Amino acid sequence: MKEIIDVELKTRKVDFSKCKTDLLAVGQFCDTKGLDKLNAELNQKLGGDIEQVIKLGDFKGKEGTSAVVYGNDNIGAKRVLLVGLGERKKATLDTVRKAAANAANKAVGIKVETVSLALHRAFEGRFDLSAMGQAIAEGTYFGSYRYDEFVTEGENGRLNSLRVELIDCDSAKTKKLNKGLCSGAIIGKAQSYARTLANRPGNIIYPAKLAEEAEKLTRSLEGLSCAVFDEKQLAAKGMGGVLAVGSGSANKPRFIVLKYSSASRTASTKPTVGLVGKAITFDSGGISIKPSAKMDQMKLDKTGGVAVLGTMKTVAELGLPLNVYGIIPAAENMPSGTSYRPGDIITTFSGKTVEVLDTDAEGRMVLCDGLAYAAKQKCNPIIDIATLTGACLVALGRHKAGLMGNDEKLIKQLQRAAEDSGEKVWHMPSGEEYLAEMKSKSADLKNLSHINKYGDACDAAAFLGQFVGEAKWAHLDIAGMDIFREPTEFTVEGSSGFGVRLLTTYLMNITR
Ligand code: BES
Ligand code: MN
Ligand code: ZN
Repeated sequence: MKEIIDVELKTRKVDFSKCKTDLLAVGQFCDTKGLDKLNAELNQKLGGDIEQVIKLGDFKGKEGTSAVVYGNDNIGAKRVLLVGLGERKKATLDTVRKAAANAANKAVGIKVETVSLALHRAFEGRFDLSAMGQAIAEGTYFGSYRYDEFVTEGENGRLNSLRVELIDCDSAKTKKLNKGLCSGAIIGKAQSYARTLANRPGNIIYPAKLAEEAEKLTRSLEGLSCAVFDEKQLAAKGMGGVLAVGSGSANKPRFIVLKYSSASRTASTKPTVGLVGKAITFDSGGISIKPSAKMDQMKLDKTGGVAVLGTMKTVAELGLPLNVYGIIPAAENMPSGTSYRPGDIITTFSGKTVEVLDTDAEGRMVLCDGLAYAAKQKCNPIIDIATLTGACLVALGRHKAGLMGNDEKLIKQLQRAAEDSGEKVWHMPSGEEYLAEMKSKSADLKNLSHINKYGDACDAAAFLGQFVGEAKWAHLDIAGMDIFREPTEFTVEGSSGFGVRLLTTYLMNITR
């Protein structure tokens, strides 16, 4: 895949004020008396310019804000970027990550070639330097990301590469920063990879193309293997759910199975994790067609699947001592004379039958085959991730993903990973009462509650929970996390690649 922006990341031992760079980024809290230590030193060399920006009220250190101060002969940097860190006591590792994203976003915006980050300085003593190195690397990729691969007219408004360095005058510190930077770069790059695949429209990425991308990824990485079932194999295996959803489209469905087998001997003592991601390359709703306004956003309905692909990339590149399956049922949901219909009864891979009440509730129709397949491979735990319900978007907005499941410990582990990765989740209910709404008189289940659409995020989760057998299972509803996003100070609009950091962090945590 074409690198959208080529980011080069490293650490360097250098004096902050002597560092030659286009842009030197430093952090500043909003509630410290006076300037942070490093900033006070720079301010002195700049003849009080930093103080002046603050005095004029142009910059207050609030999170998500920044200000540029121009360099002079006393310092090596052409510009100093003051990055707001918010309140000191509220700071977390995500504050560090966001500060890096903010700086990288600005750097691409003003077209500089080199950026030197001294952001860790303001947090020293509070967080582990390696963890900060990782967060800064992840944030750098996140903030510098752009999606413009199909812009051919004129310039696309940016340079093709960005050279970023984390600087400190103490080599023991750059060493520690560098340790985290290496894994952070792998994770950050994988997230950008996921964002690009997600952002590509339905005419470019359809199920067969997504499968090709998975195969391409597999060829480039050790330990990874990939099997792709086409529509004939889907029929032979009885994957009725995926087939039904894909039946209306000329672009035939695919079932993608990635497997990472660790070379490490300890992997056999660890559980085999199954990751299952919804990949609807375009969701028109099918015969139960959606309103046309903003339907273009439904190209992002493959985000869950793509997050699984990105996570398999990190797992292989980090060489985690774990065996992991990445299972991606992929289909395009379209209306036509061959589409599945409301009222149809579908026999799924598990053998369970489902009555279709709404063809727009297609995510659960493909996931049920993915989950049953994961259970058959003896994956335990199983985690699925999907842009599943508008109801979850209504409930949680776009700041947190819904988290449901059948195992308290797994829920806690994912909550922990969410804190560490800055990809937030909120535990929501599911279970018996919700499941009762999903029982059908003419089949085992139906794909929509007979009562109403209220609580559909919980209903859908209860439905999915029927397909995992005895496995521990968790479900991430990320409908709000990737769709209808506006640009922020930290990144551009479009896919956020949500899930790559969360799932990778979860997997890293369970290997510790
Ligand atoms: N992909 C959508 C869910 C979605 C909606 C994601 C908005 C992101 C933003 C899903 O396939 C869907 O259409 N769900 C329906 C289910 C309903 C018919 C029970 C919904 O939420 O309206
Ligand atoms: Mn739908
Ligand atoms: Zn959908």
